[in-house]
Amino acid sequence: MAPTILLVFLLLLFNSPSLTLSENISFDFPSFTARNITLLGDSHLKNGVIGLTREIGVPSSSSGSLVYENPIRFFDQESNITASFSTSFSFSINSLNSGSFGDGLTFFLSPDNQTLGSPGGYLGLVNSSEPNKNKFLAIEFDTKLDTEFNDPNGNHVGLDIDELDSIMTADAGLQNIDLKSGNLITAWIDYKNDLRVLNVFLSYSSLKPPTPLLSVDIDLSHYLIDDMFVGFSASTEGSTEVHLIHSWRFKTFGFLPVRSKSHPHNVSDSSVTEISEFPVSNSTEKHHNRLGLGIGIAGPAFFFVVLAVFGYVSVKKWKDTRVEKGLKAEILTGPREFSYRGLYAATRGFHSSRIIGHGAFGNVYKAVFVSSGDVGAVKRSKHSHEGKTEFLAELSIIAGLRHKNLVPLQGWCADKGELLLVYEFMPNGSLDKVLHPEPENSVLLAWSHRQNIAIGLASVLAYLHQECEQQVIHRDIKTSNIMLDGNFSPRLGDFGLARLMDHDKSPVSTLTAGTMGYLAPEYLQYGKATEKTDVFSYGVVILEVACGRRPIEREVNSQKMVNLVDWVWGLHGEGRIFEAADKKLNGAFEEEEMRKLLLVGLSCAHPDSAERPSIRRVLQILNNEANPIAVPKMKPSLVFSCSLTVEDIVSDDEESKTTA
Ligand SMILES: *[C@@H]1O[C@H](CO)[C@@H](O)[C@H](O)[C@H]1NC(C)=O
Ligand SMILES: *[C@@H]1O[C@H](CO)[C@@H](O)[C@H](O)[C@H]1NC(C)=O
Ligand SMILES: *[C@@H]1O[C@H](CO)[C@@H](O)[C@H](O)[C@H]1NC(C)=O
Ligand SMILES: *[C@@H]1O[C@H](CO)[C@@H](O)[C@H](O)[C@H]1NC(C)=O
Ligand SMILES: *[C@@H]1O[C@H](CO)[C@@H](O)[C@H](O)[C@H]1NC(C)=O
Ligand SMILES: *[C@@H]1O[C@H](CO)[C@@H](O)[C@H](O)[C@H]1NC(C)=O
Ligand SMILES: *[C@@H]1O[C@H](CO)[C@@H](O)[C@H](O)[C@H]1NC(C)=O
Repeated sequence: MAPTILLVFLLLLFNSPSLTLSENISFDFPSFTARNITLLGDSHLKNGVIGLTREIGVPSSSSGSLVYENPIRFFDQESNITASFSTSFSFSINSLNSGSFGDGLTFFLSPDNQTLGSPGGYLGLVNSSEPNKNKFLAIEFDTKLDTEFNDPNGNHVGLDIDELDSIMTADAGLQNIDLKSGNLITAWIDYKNDLRVLNVFLSYSSLKPPTPLLSVDIDLSHYLIDDMFVGFSASTEGSTEVHLIHSWRFKTFGFLPVRSKSHPHNVSDSSVTEISEFPVSNSTEKHHNRLGLGIGIAGPAFFFVVLAVFGYVSVKKWKDTRVEKGLKAEILTGPREFSYRGLYAATRGFHSSRIIGHGAFGNVYKAVFVSSGDVGAVKRSKHSHEGKTEFLAELSIIAGLRHKNLVPLQGWCADKGELLLVYEFMPNGSLDKVLHPEPENSVLLAWSHRQNIAIGLASVLAYLHQECEQQVIHRDIKTSNIMLDGNFSPRLGDFGLARLMDHDKSPVSTLTAGTMGYLAPEYLQYGKATEKTDVFSYGVVILEVACGRRPIEREVNSQKMVNLVDWVWGLHGEGRIFEAADKKLNGAFEEEEMRKLLLVGLSCAHPDSAERPSIRRVLQILNNEANPIAVPKMKPSLVFSCSLTVEDIVSDDEESKTTA
């Protein structure tokens, strides 16, 4: 889908100057010869047709497979693109003796060009003595009910990944197809990676029917690795079933066209050549010698290039597949471009009365779109290079992320030298405003909402840290960055400070500060953001949620600043942790749950990063799937090599404490 393509493009432009991309593959066997294929097991060639199993008049058990001999590229690392594929083939399944049927055939993709399995229910795909040996993604055309693999009947189609217990099956009889009728059947298997859907069509004629027999919403990008082999397998089990493949077409598509092959060392020239294919101003780019995030390239021209690419790709994709069902919905739900005029009008000319927040990135305005009646929140950037870099970072990251606890991005606008991001408007504002209401505003955040917030936040962090393909460290988790939707569910926002971080690389170093009080001691000390610094910030946030106190607060009637973590830890040491609970709740909470939340908060805010739990563990504890972590009575003090303690660092910075 479009945002993913944008992300891919951004990363492509940032990371890989020499654009040598993988090519689409296609081949067609109207009939077969011995060329270009490998026959394994009992498969054989006869009169231009492949027989996959042994063909004799007496019952036997047999298995065989046919593999296209050249590897096929399904994933291009440089562009991070997974290919889509489409295949059609005609086959027939018959028996030399009436009533002697079993077991069926498969079309498969596998990393191995020697894929052959056992006879019987194993469909010639799985080795019965080593069931986990063969890796595959297969569509089975199964003619035998095998209860061992939870088959629904003896005439079905199913999707199998690495095992024969199908992910999803469909009864071929629903489209009046009898797989073992002996008639020629044509099958079409299409996987569109942008739509994440695999469709299988079957027909007795060579015309593709309008509706698929089997349609699976599935992201196969984890299984489609660089190079794979494609082919067929079949098996019999004490039967005389015959499996014939008569013709076969196959193609991959979706890789970007190769436009320039360049030497890896004259990077800048090739990049500029690449860029100038798009209708953009050419005046500024040529002075820059490198492409890279954070370097001067994020000027306006570069930005427009990215948008041009985005527009080009989305329009092209839209044209390519506009007839596809469901695509329209995709476009409508993904981020789109807004007109400057529209945003100007919707914010009453960015009127100060419409300001609903300030971020590192700039002001946030409430926007009311008169024509549709929709309401949005618009982030407007400052006019600096930094702002633009952050904007690009934010856009590229957000475009690829989906989670119910993230603030949804609706679109963007880049015009009149300004960069604007349009988010869904969150009617209940930010968490800090709700936790620390103005005296006249008496909204009270109920305990059940507070628990939901703790769980929702842990869930989105687990997604960012561990579940999305490229790890994202947020770096700036604080209550003013957490929005509340209409149901008071938390929505994490402001990815201005986030950077993508490749797995198994050391943490990215940065000196950009978030907000005092939420930052882990080692982050303050070394400026290094990791999963564990996010966990620390999370811990402070949930203590703030439980206690209704700011992370650093002035003591009543005194000049003394109190650090929330220290304060709660002190009460815990004295066995009075309940006294930390927000007084505004008036005791309306479950004591054990409150205790659990406070202790989880403390364990996350442990000064020693190694002692902090992973966010996944936190989620398990909050969901009562794991035992809480024991928290020492005394807050352990952590001594850095330069002998500064956390307290020293915090009390060093008088000014930032009061800005909340
Ligand atoms: C088979 O391989 C030959 C070269 O060995 C190639 O020219 C031909 O196009 C291939 N045919 C198919 C269907 O892949
Ligand atoms: C299988 O692939 C390997 C490497 O990809 C190749 O060396 C070998 O010849 C192939 N075997 C057959 C039978 O094609
Ligand atoms: C199954 O695996 C074993 C051991 O690797 C091997 O000897 C046997 O030939 C395999 N069977 C099939 C049908 O490939
Ligand atoms: C691959 O196929 C797509 C159509 O999906 C096409 O736009 C693109 O140009 C092709 N790429 C190559 C390298 O031929
Ligand atoms: C890139 O450098 C190679 C030698 O390193 C040179 O032959 C080639 O012409 C250069 N290409 C461009 C576009 O400057
Ligand atoms: C760059 O822009 C100038 C005017 O702005 C134009 O004359 C020139 O042809 C352009 N060059 C390219 C390569 O488009
Ligand atoms: C690759 O693309 C996927 C989405 O298709 C995205 O989630 C992932 O972060 C990308 N990875 C890299 C290294 O760009």
